[in-house]
Amino acid sequence: MRILLIGGGGREHAIACALARSPRTEKLYCLPGNAGISEVAECIEGSVMDFEHIAKAVKEKNIDTVFVAPDDPLYGGLVNRLERDNVRCFGPRKEAAIIEGSKAFSKEFMTKYNIPTALYRTFDNYDEAKKYIEECPLPTVIKADGLALGKGVIIAETRDDARKALEKTMLDKAFGNAGNTVVIEEFLTGKEFTLLAFCDGKSFSLMPTSQDHKRAYDGDKGPNTGGMGAFSPAFVYSEEVMKETVERIVVPTVNGLIAEGRPFKGVLYFGLMATENGVKVIEYNARFGDPETQVILPLLKTDLTSIVDACIDGTLSDIDVEWEDGCSFCVVMASGGYPGKIVKGYPITIGDLSEDIKIYHSGTAFKDGQLVTNGGRVLCVTTKGKTIAECREKVYSEIEKISFKDSEYRRDIGIK
Ligand code: AMP
Ligand code: GLY
Repeated sequence: MRILLIGGGGREHAIACALARSPRTEKLYCLPGNAGISEVAECIEGSVMDFEHIAKAVKEKNIDTVFVAPDDPLYGGLVNRLERDNVRCFGPRKEAAIIEGSKAFSKEFMTKYNIPTALYRTFDNYDEAKKYIEECPLPTVIKADGLALGKGVIIAETRDDARKALEKTMLDKAFGNAGNTVVIEEFLTGKEFTLLAFCDGKSFSLMPTSQDHKRAYDGDKGPNTGGMGAFSPAFVYSEEVMKETVERIVVPTVNGLIAEGRPFKGVLYFGLMATENGVKVIEYNARFGDPETQVILPLLKTDLTSIVDACIDGTLSDIDVEWEDGCSFCVVMASGGYPGKIVKGYPITIGDLSEDIKIYHSGTAFKDGQLVTNGGRVLCVTTKGKTIAECREKVYSEIEKISFKDSEYRRDIGIK
């Protein structure tokens, strides 16, 4: 296979490593990639949203399969565009990626198919939304409808916070046009976890559960981020929780998308909350999660390229997707100030690390041969082991050997 991977973060580094491992991979390209990815793939410059540039590269490099990892090009229709040239694509068409691309769509979809989720109202008129937040129960959750790098969700504890969040989203356009419509929903309490599934447009194959840490600071304080650390399996995992999740959420979602004429191919991401009243959907994504992928893919025993082919061909039920039994764990090192303003270009030094540690690069680049910071989330430090506690100890003792100016990371991943 001659594969092009689209994206350039930690998630893509983990995907690139899994694809590069396969004897079926003849050549691996990545656009735009990053410093870490360039060690396992040939990087091609360009924007993930420049579809014509990508289509041209596919022709020039004789690529047969494109793996689209990030949300923007998926919802923007990159798969639709490349399929016009008969290119094999791993990832949903935009008609299916809307499950992530519009929260208003996904809430309506869940209501229609009786999939448990937080109660909600949708508004595209500021005055009506304002009126609603003056009387809704607190805390309340205000979400920009569209894609906002995982940052378009504000949890408001007080009436005043709710007013500010609404202003920020709808009037100040802090998340651009993503905030033209807002979903205001019930605040749920419980234990959050993530479930990912490979889908081939007909059936699905579940991956191990995982748990992300979305808040920037220790103790789940501070603003929401793309994710500051993760581990697998999630603490809530039990046969009973899984059975309920599959029956009440996964099956109706996959079948509902088929019924809507939007069959899903690729990775479907279920952001879930185990509440006192059962498991509920917090959000859907139409792709692998970041940093969940960095803990999930190292546990995959089956060749990822065969799964990619099976998802594209609709033959997923013919293969056995196998996983290691153990645990997997990661901590994200971010630039100071993330998820707000950050400075790029600081040199990164990495000491002699234990063999058990694997680093996936997020925002990194080479500048005159020196590895430097190049984004909000910089590195993802991962390991595998028998227990989460063992993994946690390993990562936190090794992470001290990695340094760059103003680096930040959470010290409580996997404790709660
Ligand atoms: P989302 O982008 O929709 O996943 O939201 C980001 C984060 O906000 C989630 O991972 C949750 O931690 C939190 N969140 C979102 N919706 C709710 C809700 N209805 N109740 C409680 N927390 C929520
Ligand atoms: N870690 C959350 C996400 O990828 O959306």
